[in-house]
Amino acid sequence: MPQDISCWQKIETISRNIFSLYNYQEIRTPVIENIALFDRSLGESTEIVQKQMFVVKNKEDIYVLRPEGTASVVRAYIENHLDKTKGLVKFYYLGPMFRLERPQKGRLRQFHHIGVEVIGSDSPALDIEIISLAERLLKEWGICDYQIIINNLGCTEDKKELIRILKQALKNKINRLCADCQQRYKRNVLRILDCKKNSCQEVVTKLDIRQSYLCQSCQQHFTAVKVGLDTLKINYSLNPYLVRGLDYYTRTVFEIRHAKLGAQDAIGAGGRYDNLVRELGGPSMGAMGFAFGVERLMLVVSCQLSVVTPNNLVYLIFLGDNANKEGLKLLDILRKSGISCDTDYENKSLKGAMRKASDLGAKFVLILGEDELKKGVVTLRDMDSGEQKEVKAEDLITELMTNVKIQSTK
Ligand code: HAM
Repeated sequence: MPQDISCWQKIETISRNIFSLYNYQEIRTPVIENIALFDRSLGESTEIVQKQMFVVKNKEDIYVLRPEGTASVVRAYIENHLDKTKGLVKFYYLGPMFRLERPQKGRLRQFHHIGVEVIGSDSPALDIEIISLAERLLKEWGICDYQIIINNLGCTEDKKELIRILKQALKNKINRLCADCQQRYKRNVLRILDCKKNSCQEVVTKLDIRQSYLCQSCQQHFTAVKVGLDTLKINYSLNPYLVRGLDYYTRTVFEIRHAKLGAQDAIGAGGRYDNLVRELGGPSMGAMGFAFGVERLMLVVSCQLSVVTPNNLVYLIFLGDNANKEGLKLLDILRKSGISCDTDYENKSLKGAMRKASDLGAKFVLILGEDELKKGVVTLRDMDSGEQKEVKAEDLITELMTNVKIQSTK
């Protein structure tokens, strides 16, 4: 609704400014994609692919409303041969995503992401930039009380090892897990680690997993990332149970949580996906990104960012047929001069139209009736002071310009 949009726009404007500071460029991908893209990238056993995709069936093809942006950006990168022409790219995007979930506070079926994707680097310096960019955004949006949680899932081989360790460790505890996790044990054992149910938490927190599954190279990568974040004085906590719900993640994963949000406490999340470009048909390239959920951001920032923009509206009231005709031109001239104005389209009486002007918070009211037309003037009423005077038609723009801040970019 309009009262929320000023806050929403503020979030977007701040984000665009920060992205530009970090040299990211905007990419816009379609909201509809072939289903195969997400089956292949997010993983067939993930919750999104299993249960949450809005499917659009054509005669032969099956499409979905995109549940997230990363896979689409990678598809666009490959299709446009950017690996050959550009190499490393730094993209950001803002837009709607769709997931067929049970709606609740902070969980919607259409929601919006503000995200970034960088394709073309294996360097831990990229992980540091991405996490520090996420933190910079949080600060600029005026959000406090957030927590950045980090983990390293390792490369493909390490992830296999982690899955093996987990399967082994949970083998005799399956019946203590919730029904969903009993299924996950077969299809997606990693997700058991971040199940929120008490019964599963009790089992999981007793597992000693640490980072024993990480190969030397992934360990070095992780150390370099932590050192970089420490150098930048970024506050984070390590959590070996953070696995994230999408299969494409490798190495660094992170999540940003906010205490104010309750059950759906993640306001943003991201990580590396070093195999995804290759898996979707491109060359082998390191990549990383994150996405914030705008509606969840709104839940934590709305009070702080809803700045009251000064209302410089001029409200025009025309009385009679001739005035209506002249008024049409006047409205057009004022708008072309960059003055924000509106008029009555409901045939209200003078009293009713004045009330409407006041409801809209208009700064000035202009009244044009038969009398004014004859004299070549317009009655100008200052709504704050209640003062009223006649202004010559030819002086009107200058008079308004000196009092009203111009709304347009002129
Ligand atoms: P994700 O964790 O699925 O990651 O979504 C990112 C954020 O979107 C969440 O932290 C949450 O704030 C918001 N979100 C997710 N689902 C909903 C929902 N149903 N209603 C409202 N908000 C929601 C991704 O989508 C990855 N693509 C992020 C990424 C980019 N990883 C690498 N690059």
